[in-house]
Amino acid sequence: MFKLIFFFFLCQILKSSSQNLNFTYNGFHTPTDISLQGIATLTNTGLLKLTNTSVQKTGHAFYTKPIRFKDSQNGTVSSFSTSFVFAIQSQIPTLSGHGIAFVVSPTPGLPLALPSQYIGLFNITNNGNDTNHIFAVEFDTIQSSEFGDPNDNHVGIDINGLRSVNYSTAGYWDEKDEFRNLSLISRKRIQVWIDYDNRSNRIDVTMAPFDSDKPRKPLVSYVRDLSSILLQDMYVGFSSATGSVISEHFVVGWSFRLNGEAPLLSLSKLPKLPRFEPKKVSDFYKIGMPLISLFMIFAMILLAFYIVRRKKKFEEELEDWEIEFGKNRFRFKELYHATKGFKEKDLLGSGGFGRVYRGILPTTKLEVAVKRVSHDSKQGMKEFVAEIVSIGRMSHRNLVPLLGYCRRRGELLLVYDYMPNGSLDKYLYNNPEVTLDWKQRSKIIKGVASGLFYLHEEWEQVVIHRDVKASNVLLDAEFNGRLGDFGLARLYDHGSDPQTTHVVGTLGYLAPEHSRTGRATTATDVYAFGAFLLEVVSGRRPIEIHSESDDTFLLVEWVFSLWLRGSIMEAKHPNLGSDAYELEEVEMVLKLGLLCSHSDPRCRPSMRQVLQYLRGDMALPELTPLNLSAGSVMNLGGRDGFSGIAMPYSSSVFNGFTGGSSIADSQLSGGR
Ligand SMILES: Nc1ncnc2c1ncn2[C@@H]1O[C@H](COP(=O)(O)OP(=O)(O)OP(=O)(O)O)[C@@H](O)[C@H]1O
Ligand SMILES: *[C@@H]1O[C@H](CO)[C@@H](O)[C@H](O)[C@H]1NC(C)=O
Ligand SMILES: *[C@@H]1O[C@H](CO)[C@@H](O)[C@H](O)[C@H]1NC(C)=O
Ligand SMILES: *[C@@H]1O[C@H](CO)[C@@H](O)[C@H](O)[C@H]1NC(C)=O
Ligand SMILES: *[C@@H]1O[C@H](CO)[C@@H](O)[C@H](O)[C@H]1NC(C)=O
Ligand SMILES: *[C@@H]1O[C@H](CO)[C@@H](O)[C@H](O)[C@H]1NC(C)=O
Ligand SMILES: *[C@@H]1O[C@H](CO)[C@@H](O)[C@H](O)[C@H]1NC(C)=O
Ligand SMILES: *[C@@H]1O[C@H](CO)[C@@H](O)[C@H](O)[C@H]1NC(C)=O
Ligand SMILES: *[C@@H]1O[C@H](CO)[C@@H](O)[C@H](O)[C@H]1NC(C)=O
Ligand SMILES: [Mg+2]
Repeated sequence: MFKLIFFFFLCQILKSSSQNLNFTYNGFHTPTDISLQGIATLTNTGLLKLTNTSVQKTGHAFYTKPIRFKDSQNGTVSSFSTSFVFAIQSQIPTLSGHGIAFVVSPTPGLPLALPSQYIGLFNITNNGNDTNHIFAVEFDTIQSSEFGDPNDNHVGIDINGLRSVNYSTAGYWDEKDEFRNLSLISRKRIQVWIDYDNRSNRIDVTMAPFDSDKPRKPLVSYVRDLSSILLQDMYVGFSSATGSVISEHFVVGWSFRLNGEAPLLSLSKLPKLPRFEPKKVSDFYKIGMPLISLFMIFAMILLAFYIVRRKKKFEEELEDWEIEFGKNRFRFKELYHATKGFKEKDLLGSGGFGRVYRGILPTTKLEVAVKRVSHDSKQGMKEFVAEIVSIGRMSHRNLVPLLGYCRRRGELLLVYDYMPNGSLDKYLYNNPEVTLDWKQRSKIIKGVASGLFYLHEEWEQVVIHRDVKASNVLLDAEFNGRLGDFGLARLYDHGSDPQTTHVVGTLGYLAPEHSRTGRATTATDVYAFGAFLLEVVSGRRPIEIHSESDDTFLLVEWVFSLWLRGSIMEAKHPNLGSDAYELEEVEMVLKLGLLCSHSDPRCRPSMRQVLQYLRGDMALPELTPLNLSAGSVMNLGGRDGFSGIAMPYSSSVFNGFTGGSSIADSQLSGGR
């Protein structure tokens, strides 16, 4: 009897202990008695993370110990109550898959259940089969019409299958008995209460926002005796599954109690959800990144364009043979900056070969004149560059110093010392503002003569200037005459084949035999120098074409005719002095000019003789009409209608003017 009583009490104690089972997880920090399956994990912040971003996967978490729901196999199910907080974070704010469920199952895991719309609870074969013995409450975020889902945000009570026995749109009834929607995928924590009462057999599911109290009215109810559904020992836990949409399902806190109301969760102790801002990230990747990369590509293209343009702008030509002239070569960039981009403002003037710009070299601050010569052919370029470089080594006080050159496609740039007083032609014709007196003119003439003599005889090789004329005589600060532009004509004057020769020089300075043979000699330079002398004394151009009368004034002819009449001094410019000594010199220079301009090159003096005459070291031989005309008669040989005897100069000059197509060619090729 005593034994019986003792046994009874023992049974009661065991019974009550099993019936009073309860547990509480305020966050899953180092939880005991929780087993995980599938992709479920526990985060180090204390969250039960049922699914991560893997798609088409299930995640399960069960309380490891079995719970005795019935006293006996055929007994009635005890009341039970659970309370939990969950959250769903989806990558896309408007779509999430597939949901989360509280589950009471005969096994502590559902390894053969399917993900996606099966939410990890059932599979195709066992869905809806009474042998499952599964009770679940689903929080479904996808509408699966095959299971009769009302929408994509509902709560349903599931018994042995996914076709819910009762369901409702997720939400709650507030104090005023008004229904409030709750979005399951709001990324907010949501409270849930599930209660089963074994007297009324009522299942109540209630939801509320995280910080609210439990509403009095449940969301979904269903009356059913679970005794036939649940077995004696069951496992409780959660199931979740992902579909194709990346979603994370969390359980933040959980309490359970058999035969009584589930313990309250202390909400303040529950862990926070991880910062999840996929929208911003995706926005950044979707819109920001392409935009930025587009911008970058655009910027790169612009930069490349700029670099190519810049490279092209400063492009130069450099060939092997130029290496020895390296120190005479300028960078185009340097010249570009020196002349501030070849501005019109700094244009000094333009002649037959190109334009001349004033500039200041950035490195040495030296004032320079840069001549841009356009030149397409490579022919003769090597010889020309070699010559100008050798000229660059010359230093004579009556030559314009050539500092160096630069070569680009179709272009040659020559860098000279800047001559502050410009070219002589500006002081001679058309009533200039500043005229020069005889002393200055005499000094210039002597200077130019000694410069030309240096080129012809004193330099290591014979250099022919080819373009002696007033505009190529530049005046330095002391008004010394300096010859410039030597050799440039040669660039266009290549080849000795008379058929292809292009004669280059300036009309009126061109010796008759030069235009005939196309060959420049020291004698042709002397001829041009003679014209230059007459020009300086008379202040008139070697050729003046009067457009209204179509008359051609030829300076040499005119001076010659004056000389014939014995009044050569009428040729002198009226401004020149009246000093007797000076007048004597003026007359000598005029006669020397005539002598130099002789149409027969053999009759012209050499520059050495010219210098001697100018310096007075030697007397000028007496000129006679006969000795002046003799050569020209021979030369012309009656080729045109002029009577050569009387007018040797006019004929020769005029012959040079109209006589050959070569002149016309030179005018074209010289571009003037
Ligand atoms: N070194 C220099 N210093 C100052 N001004 C110069 C210099 N070189 C040339 N100039 C100026 O530039 C102008 C143009 O010179 P450029 O040599 O191109 O023409 P040109 O002498 O009239 O004809 P050509 O092409 O036959 O030489 C000259 O008239 C002169 O005023
Ligand atoms: C909850 O369970 C513990 C033992 O796990 C027990 O001590 C406690 O009394 C139970 N609480 C209630 C309200 O039954
Ligand atoms: C999800 O969790 C499982 C299990 O921890 C892991 O194997 C898988 O790599 C995780 N997936 C991602 C995308 O993190
Ligand atoms: C439970 O009920 C079934 C029939 O419903 C019966 O076969 C079985 O013996 C009963 N078990 C117990 C322990 O009463
Ligand atoms: C409800 O469950 C308790 C505990 O298991 C039990 O004592 C009680 O009889 C049950 N009530 C009903 C109406 O079955
Ligand atoms: C479905 O699940 C049940 C129970 O878990 C299992 O017996 C069955 O083999 C599963 N079917 C498939 C096709 O996996
Ligand atoms: C339910 O499952 C059992 C065993 O798994 C099976 O024998 C039975 O045919 C299934 N019933 C239905 C309706 O599929
Ligand atoms: C609540 O959700 C239902 C179903 O999605 C919708 O028809 C209803 O307009 C929503 N009500 C409010 C207040 O948002
Ligand atoms: C479903 O739940 C609602 C809300 O609790 C309730 O009004 C309704 O009667 C239930 N339907 C069934 C068939 O139990
Ligand atoms: Mg010039």
